[in-house]
Amino acid sequence: MPAIRFPALLLALALPAFAPAAETPAPTRVALTAARLIAPEQGKIVEHPLVLIEGDRIREVRSGGAVPDGYQKIDLGAATLLPGLIDSHVHLGGDPTLSSGNYYEDTLKRSVIDDAVTAHVFAKRTLDAGFTTVRNLGSGAYIDVALRNAIDAGRIEGPRILAATLALGATGGHADDTTGYSPYIEFHGASGVADGVEAVRKQVRENVKRGADVTKFMASAGVLSAEESVGAPQYSQEEMNAIVDESHRWGRKVAAHAHGAEAIKMAIKAGVDSVEHCSMIDEEGLKLAKQHGTWLVFDVYNDDYILSEYARLGYPATMVEKEKKVGRLQRESFRRAVQAGEKLAFGTDAGVYPHGWNGKQFAKMVEWGMTPMQAIQAATTNAAELLGRGDRIGAVKPGYYADLVAVSGDPLADVAVLERVGFVMKGGALVKNEIAPK
Ligand code: ARG
Repeated sequence: MPAIRFPALLLALALPAFAPAAETPAPTRVALTAARLIAPEQGKIVEHPLVLIEGDRIREVRSGGAVPDGYQKIDLGAATLLPGLIDSHVHLGGDPTLSSGNYYEDTLKRSVIDDAVTAHVFAKRTLDAGFTTVRNLGSGAYIDVALRNAIDAGRIEGPRILAATLALGATGGHADDTTGYSPYIEFHGASGVADGVEAVRKQVRENVKRGADVTKFMASAGVLSAEESVGAPQYSQEEMNAIVDESHRWGRKVAAHAHGAEAIKMAIKAGVDSVEHCSMIDEEGLKLAKQHGTWLVFDVYNDDYILSEYARLGYPATMVEKEKKVGRLQRESFRRAVQAGEKLAFGTDAGVYPHGWNGKQFAKMVEWGMTPMQAIQAATTNAAELLGRGDRIGAVKPGYYADLVAVSGDPLADVAVLERVGFVMKGGALVKNEIAPK
């Protein structure tokens, strides 16, 4: 092999020398105006904003005033501008619309290549819904790395992606897709299943080697998988500690899937950066999260979709039954977390429900205790900080990426307008504008 691959590599490296010299075009200058801008980092409104954009960055934000010369003007009339939204928990590889209505048929007839072929469609839907950055918390065969790279290179349209690659999990646990099948069926392909301190360290390194930006692991059992329990811990404290230690050594943050009270506390003690789902978090867990500065990500919309659609989609009744055990509890836990003043970031687990519907979670968060401003902060300032990108996304400020969205109406009066984002700009490039100027 090396004899064949080495010259090919040399050729690839030599190619750019023969390519025509790239010209750097002058950066485009755009001036955006609207009725108001929500500035979540200050919890404030800017009336009659004038946002000056140069290239992919925001240059200046003013309240009122004339558009300076040399700027292309986009007037959004009576609309409200906000920073591009961030979803810190998605799975772009899957979507319920891919289901044939027969769970087992899909498992046996579809592969990760089918998921790879359609993932760009869901990336685009996510972006069109106003989500300019997402954290993809697990997908097979490094689909999320390929997607991220193609988007960054401008080959396809989609949000900025932080990729977790393969989710780590214990044998027979939430990340082990082969549980419950005949032991004589072999599933091939990359898997994040790893047991024991050495193996989990190795898997973290492998993921980093393949392009992971963040680590995802299954601290507890889950709903949409074959185990009996929804919330039982699936890794030992030592394994969780090792995952976090190894990930942090490589500069990667860690997200832990955990529904059960015990698993949540173990993950927090291990030092994870965020706990996902958090369904049965108890008082002690809330306290620990505060002490450790752990972000909590509650996917509180999911329950509605699973209960109304998953039987029709042919999912095993055992999974729907498990959802019935945690759905309501999760929302009550969310309310307690809001009241306790926890660090909350927006994450939907989209992929479990259709991509592009991410914004539906805002109304749920407000229904269960947040103010509209808090829900918006969760999906901007807070999520940006959780992702370690608080210096470039999540706010409309000079030097930040020109990631902006706009909606008709006022999301502070009716947060559900965020389900219908009419204008999207990512890195200064117009993605869509369905908002009529005044
Ligand atoms: N991926 C998660 C799991 O299978 C989805 C949980 C959805 N339910 C909920 N109430 N948030 O465990």
